[in-house]
Amino acid sequence: MSTSSNTAPSAGPRPPEFATWMKQGNNITQQFLSFGRRPGPIVLSGGLPAPELYPISDVQEAARDALEKHGSAALGYGAVEGLFDLREAIAHRLSTDRLSLAPENVLITTGSLQAVELIGKALIDPGDAILAEYPTYLGALDAWLPRLPRYAELPHEAPWPEAKFAYVVPNFSNPTGAVLKRKAREALLSRSAESGIWLVEDDPYGELRYEGGVQPSLLEMSAVPGTAIYEGSVVHLGTLSKTIAPGLRVGWAVCAPDMIRALAQAKQGSDLSTSTFCQAVALELIRKDADRRHVPTLIDAYRERRDALCAAAQEHLADLFEWSVPEGGMFVWMTARQPGLDTYALLPFALEAGVSFVPGSVFDSRGLVSPSLRLNFTANPPDILQEGVRRLSRAAREFASRQAAAE
Ligand SMILES: Cc1ncc(COP(=O)(O)O)c(C=O)c1O
Repeated sequence: MSTSSNTAPSAGPRPPEFATWMKQGNNITQQFLSFGRRPGPIVLSGGLPAPELYPISDVQEAARDALEKHGSAALGYGAVEGLFDLREAIAHRLSTDRLSLAPENVLITTGSLQAVELIGKALIDPGDAILAEYPTYLGALDAWLPRLPRYAELPHEAPWPEAKFAYVVPNFSNPTGAVLKRKAREALLSRSAESGIWLVEDDPYGELRYEGGVQPSLLEMSAVPGTAIYEGSVVHLGTLSKTIAPGLRVGWAVCAPDMIRALAQAKQGSDLSTSTFCQAVALELIRKDADRRHVPTLIDAYRERRDALCAAAQEHLADLFEWSVPEGGMFVWMTARQPGLDTYALLPFALEAGVSFVPGSVFDSRGLVSPSLRLNFTANPPDILQEGVRRLSRAAREFASRQAAAE
């Protein structure tokens, strides 16, 4: 497995219009997330946790301990790879009977999105192929856009075409909420091993499981038991954004030491290091297991919110859209029953009715028209979610009748 860039491989069709299309969107991530930061519509478009559930007193205590214990080290520049103790704590936490991790396997990043970006910086030359699902995480598409990659659909069964890496969100994917079952995970790992292509496992939502059995991580499944340091082909990404708070901006990449070195080199020119203060706070939180102790509170609240949104959708949207109830995460992915419906065109009607969602086309690296949309259920209480769904139903009906009148 090599981290150095080589000549452009030939996998898949290249969509030359994609970069232009994304650029015309004038930073689409920003556009959709920003609905959440101003008064107005009920925001079902954000990807945000519930702010009223941030464990503020735990963070307060950790911040005090961070300054008391780490002193000026918590306020200075730090090593680009991250605080050694935090790397060690994460290595220790993720190690299992079959997976043995050392601090050399861990890079601390400024949120896991920075790890996503650094992977692009370290690996992608213009025209290189990335294997990703359609649809895939918008933040990753944004992060890699300046590197001008091309995308090929990640084949679950067939052999992989040549590519720099494959990218998956295996637990409660953003945007679809889907989970990769064990067999699909095994298939991905054999394809990665036989092709020598890095497999990026982006897992911000794995702990937010409301029902169903836990799947082993690709990282753990790819480990060779008995080895002291992980040397496999998976690059596993984690974060405290969903279990503590996104404002901490502490995430991590866990992978083979040679990839850690490549990512650290890429990070050097980005921010020198992740905030040492935030890392020290994260270390204190993790030492006390504060994030894991907080998860049951999140699960209870988010399960109730998911159920409220899905029940309202069953009542008001079932004739227009179909969806699967996600077993975890933050999103419900709905697809219009009417073939060819463009949810991008529906959006202005929804905003007019006082609700926002993210149209499916922005998660498609080809920029294709999409009949799907993403609704977030974690950032609003049940009654607001229910009202949001009622507004969406009104908007969708108004949209359909305008379309019918125009035909
Ligand atoms: C799939 C995925 N990866 C990464 C991130 C980024 O999270 P962080 O706050 O750790 O940068 C998100 C955030 O929504 C996400 O959905």
